[in-house]
Amino acid sequence: MKNNNEWGSNLAFILAMIGSAVGLGNIWRYPYVLYSNGGGAFYIPYIIAILVLAIPFTILEYGVGYNFKSSFTKAIIKINPKLEYFGWILPVAVFIMTIYYSTIIGWDGIYFFLSFFKGWGANPNAFLTNTVLHPTDSLGGIFHFLPFVAISMLVGWFIIWLVSHKNLDDGLGKVCKIFVPILFITMIIIVLFSLTLPGAIIGLKELFEPDLSLLWDFNIWLAAFGQIFFSLSLGIGAGFTYASYTKKDIDLITSGLYVVIANSLFENFAALGIFSVLGYMSLQSGTPIPNIVSEGVTLIFVIYPQVFNILGVISLILAPLFFFTVYVAGITSMLSAFEVLSISIQNKFNMSRKKATTILVIVGALTSMIYATSCGEYILTITDSFINNFVIILCVIIECILFAWVFKAERLINFLNSKSQSLKLGKWWLILIKYIIPILLCIIWIGGINKLIATATNEYLLVIAILVAILLICSLIFTLLKPKSENWFKTEERIK
Ligand code: TRP
Repeated sequence: MKNNNEWGSNLAFILAMIGSAVGLGNIWRYPYVLYSNGGGAFYIPYIIAILVLAIPFTILEYGVGYNFKSSFTKAIIKINPKLEYFGWILPVAVFIMTIYYSTIIGWDGIYFFLSFFKGWGANPNAFLTNTVLHPTDSLGGIFHFLPFVAISMLVGWFIIWLVSHKNLDDGLGKVCKIFVPILFITMIIIVLFSLTLPGAIIGLKELFEPDLSLLWDFNIWLAAFGQIFFSLSLGIGAGFTYASYTKKDIDLITSGLYVVIANSLFENFAALGIFSVLGYMSLQSGTPIPNIVSEGVTLIFVIYPQVFNILGVISLILAPLFFFTVYVAGITSMLSAFEVLSISIQNKFNMSRKKATTILVIVGALTSMIYATSCGEYILTITDSFINNFVIILCVIIECILFAWVFKAERLINFLNSKSQSLKLGKWWLILIKYIIPILLCIIWIGGINKLIATATNEYLLVIAILVAILLICSLIFTLLKPKSENWFKTEERIK
């Protein structure tokens, strides 16, 4: 009989994991991080972050997820039922991320629509500010609702529902099998075209010009670890959840390597494309690259439309293709994050996938409307930096302790090695996940707190206090609600 919560094939798992990793972080965050942290010199900390953090931690998340074959929360209960509360904090935090991620997808949706007729007009900067975002730098704008952003976000949530409410392999599995390859193909087309633009080489030179002196700067190491973390969706329970749906014959180590490699290829390729475009822009406008380059919202929604404006007819194909690529990258990442809380709720309350996803999509869509206001971008920036820099890193430190120490990751080694066609785990892996990663993360975490204390305003702290309260209270409610599933507190395991 077909298992409703199992991938139809191992390929579906790998593609879904790549879909989860490759997201907005690869397209709008990485090129800027690479450029502003030493260019070519950034590859040294970047590769070290992949070897020391990404690969070992990915294997740990997959291994534990596979072992427990259940939601993240249930796995924590199997480790120790008294820790249920901690098992809810991560899924709830990730759900909050899903909510603000839907906002960026919503903005992109608007631009996808506009891209067919260059609806952003001659001045994309003014258009973004005056027509789309109406941003305010304080909470004052909360009563100014932005209907177009809201509609576009609701469309995104509807797509999430369409995919997630179906059985795993018919929904998520199928969508990732079709759209993840499309994502790579469209990106390759866009980048190859960008490389042929006059001036591309100026951009690439500027990007890769290594500034080796920066290697002594602690911040570029922080940036490399932070980027790898975000870009690979590490520590948000996505790898854990997706791996829990795998079949018995899966080679998790090799799958993890594929995901890490595909993700890095994608983001470096994206960087080539984006800097070629910036070089072109620089040549056309006579402005030096450092004055044009930016990240996030400005890069995607101002500079790209400016370039499409000067490109002529070809942009009528290129622009929709570009915003479509960003959209697909965003949706496949959001789907994986959505799944984490959804499956925990299905497990505890014995709820069908359909019912759980419907309720969560409604709650998520309604809550996300707070971002469809004039202070949306402002709150989004605070939520994003707080959840990423504090909550998730803290959750990962806790995951390292619970999975590597309390559960004892040594128990996974024989199983993982027996299936592995590539890398074999040994003592080095245990040293990394038990000592080096948690220590490194503690350093990053403390560094982040220092920065926060140095820069936060009162209003910023108010938003954070509200977020923390929501996080703690929602997790408490989920913990206190009575389980509907008889098995909730049972502790059977898959690998002995
Ligand atoms: N990996 C995704 C990217 O590169 C982003 C991501 C990380 C994410 N954590 C997330 C998306 C949590 C939604 C929720 O863009």
